Amino acid sequence: MREKNPNVTRSLETYKRAGELIPGWTQLISRRASQFANGISPIYAQNAKGSRFTDIDGVQYIDWVSAVGAIILGHADDVVDGAVKKQIDRGSLYSLSSPLEIELAEELNNTIPSSEMVRYTKGGGEACAVAVRIARGTTGRDKILFCGYHGWHDWYQAANYLVDPESGEFPFAGIEPIGIPKVLADTIAPFTYGDLGMLEALLETNRGEVAAIMMEPIRSEFPPTGYLEGVKDLARKHDVILIFDEVSCGWRLSIGGAQKHLGVIPDMTVVAKAMSNGYPMGAVVGSREVMEPASRMFISSSYWSDNVGLVAALTTIRELKRRNSEARFLEIGEKLRTGLNGAIAAAGLSGACTGLHTNPAVTLELPDETLRPTVTTLFIQEMAKRNIHCYMSFKPTLAHTDEDIQQTTDAATEALHVIKRGLDVGNVADLLECDIKKEPFRRLVR
Ligand SMILES: Cc1ncc(COP(=O)(O)O)c(C=O)c1O
Repeated sequence: MREKNPNVTRSLETYKRAGELIPGWTQLISRRASQFANGISPIYAQNAKGSRFTDIDGVQYIDWVSAVGAIILGHADDVVDGAVKKQIDRGSLYSLSSPLEIELAEELNNTIPSSEMVRYTKGGGEACAVAVRIARGTTGRDKILFCGYHGWHDWYQAANYLVDPESGEFPFAGIEPIGIPKVLADTIAPFTYGDLGMLEALLETNRGEVAAIMMEPIRSEFPPTGYLEGVKDLARKHDVILIFDEVSCGWRLSIGGAQKHLGVIPDMTVVAKAMSNGYPMGAVVGSREVMEPASRMFISSSYWSDNVGLVAALTTIRELKRRNSEARFLEIGEKLRTGLNGAIAAAGLSGACTGLHTNPAVTLELPDETLRPTVTTLFIQEMAKRNIHCYMSFKPTLAHTDEDIQQTTDAATEALHVIKRGLDVGNVADLLECDIKKEPFRRLVR
């Protein structure tokens, strides 16, 4: 492993070329160099296996970003890739539909509590757009109340026309609604996670006009007791469709989704990302009552029938069950939490490893809140120098080993020592060898 000798020359050269050829450099904002320690963190990978990838400068890293959660079994999983390769030999896209569509629908119905009927897509944001179309078509209403991140489509990004009167910020800080029709501004409103009063007031003000409540049921912390039950009661009272966006929280906590773990069943659910271990796939599932009217709506796309995504999803879901993933994630998460808490204490800092075991995060107590972006970037920088690719939070896969956890906590101890020295002397900013990481957008659910 490389020791404190960052060499990302080829990544940086390639990124420069990307700037000339690809507006915005990357296809996903979270992959931009500005999301990490720009100049120190790797930007381009050449291969990945299990819990690790090798960047184009030939250096290997332990990967705790896990393709923003889309990798759940580990990179290039032998079982999933074996099934995909077999399917490629039989044809990846037919003129006819494949019976795999029915097989996966049955698997989803047996796995996700809210699932009775199923539609497919190739990604999460797209699946959210399908869910919203179905909700609007089923209810005959236009407005959507939302809480969370739901992708790039117009129905959702139109919320950025609603500048926060107090902060003056768009709901997604730093993102302006350029290219989104202004006429959509009145069709969407955000609500704050945990605030039932706010949701109720929005439902009252827009009585008879709201098609759906779309929300991430959980992100980094468990919901306050009774909160999701309260949301469901309000949805029932106002005859509004409740949609859980489980694109990020699905699959890890429970194979049947956060809804299974938390015991609150929505009318519709959106899943994607980890369902297929890195192959493009998404789905909208829901009760027969809300899904059936979709047969009369125009919801149609050529690649939604692609066999590779279907077979990858079927194999991934079955492997999660076979590998006893829920217990394994608990074990990996708890070991990581113990290691990171030890690293914080060893560095002499105040703080703790917080959050769900499926996404543990290092949260430090700082003398001054304005230092947080600098400290976060410094942590990412020092971890990258020690061959660990992460944010201050960690997304485990089933491929992460005890050795990975040990190397990560050793690196974290050293990185946190650097931060401690900087805080003691009052020069954290001087220790940065890169610009401060930019937050792409503010989420309305933590
Ligand atoms: C909760 C949630 N919904 C939707 C999306 C969008 O999914 P995709 O990037 O596959 O379009 C994401 C992606 O991060 C997400 O976290």
